[in-house]
Amino acid sequence: MITAQPGILLPIPQHARYLSFALGDVAQIAAALAALRELADGENTVVGFGQSLASALGAKIAGLKSLPQITAPGLSIEAAPEVLWLWLRGDDRGELLHRSRKITCALAPAFTLHDIVDAFKYAEGRDLSGFEDGTENPVGEAAIDAAIVGPDSPLAGSSFVATQRWRHNFDCFEALSQHAKDNAIGRRQCDNEELDDAPTCAHVKRTAQESFSPEAFVLRRSMPWAEGNDGGLLFVAFGHSFDAFEAQLKRMVGREDGVSDALFTFTQPVSGAYYWCPALKDGKLELAPLGVFPDR
Ligand code: HEM
Repeated sequence: MITAQPGILLPIPQHARYLSFALGDVAQIAAALAALRELADGENTVVGFGQSLASALGAKIAGLKSLPQITAPGLSIEAAPEVLWLWLRGDDRGELLHRSRKITCALAPAFTLHDIVDAFKYAEGRDLSGFEDGTENPVGEAAIDAAIVGPDSPLAGSSFVATQRWRHNFDCFEALSQHAKDNAIGRRQCDNEELDDAPTCAHVKRTAQESFSPEAFVLRRSMPWAEGNDGGLLFVAFGHSFDAFEAQLKRMVGREDGVSDALFTFTQPVSGAYYWCPALKDGKLELAPLGVFPDR
């Protein structure tokens, strides 16, 4: 039976780790992927593969590509290797550490650890700015329609994920009046009410999913991250393709009308990547589209 990786559709966990890997010994990839298939269940450990891995295997995943460069004054975004991405979900940081060590060890020498970001749920699901995040996420069947490739495709049950690490400038944010903060998002922080008279640059005006043609729905599963006194949002959006995310991002950076998202006044993306998250077949990662057949 083909299903989506269940972790994509579940609410965000209390804690998480995002691991990204670079390519190591290419000759060992098939063995490492066979090991990963035993360790990653798609629920507690969600898996995504990037364009560089598909290319190394000579595979073509329709719709998979690299994250387009965003160019805006003052922006400096680190390009991730786009090889392998793991989202470890859990409620115990100790268990997450042990799980990530075990998986990293099993993946060597084919994959080498590039980056780990520890993330967590803040309050009832807020960004570190204090605003509730995820309110307008589609739910139920609409979430599946937005995030998962439909049954008629050879990639049925899989998903495409855009990830971006944003770093907040808390001093700058705290210096804003409450009115300016609410206007930057387009919702009232105190009760999450959407503001009818929000400015055009308000984040929810830039990204209002029904306002695109075609409508641009994604399933956001972002989580706050922190390191020392630094922090921000690990933005994560699952889609049945990258189109909806790209439409939103283009409008955020002002490509449509020259108006850039007010979010940029207090936060900036510092890295980002695209990955394809395969379906599960009978509960195991379906790797056939990559040309890897661990069962044979
Ligand atoms: C630091 C970065 C970001 C922060 C702090 C942030 C925060 C928020 C908040 C507070 C909301 C309102 C509540 C909700 O519906 O979730 C929201 C909505 C939304 N955001 Fe973001 N966001 C960030 C980046 C992005 C990016 C990069 C995209 C896509 C390219 C995006 C897409 C959306 C969408 C689609 C909505 C719902 C809009 C609607 O249909 O009303 N966000 N975001």
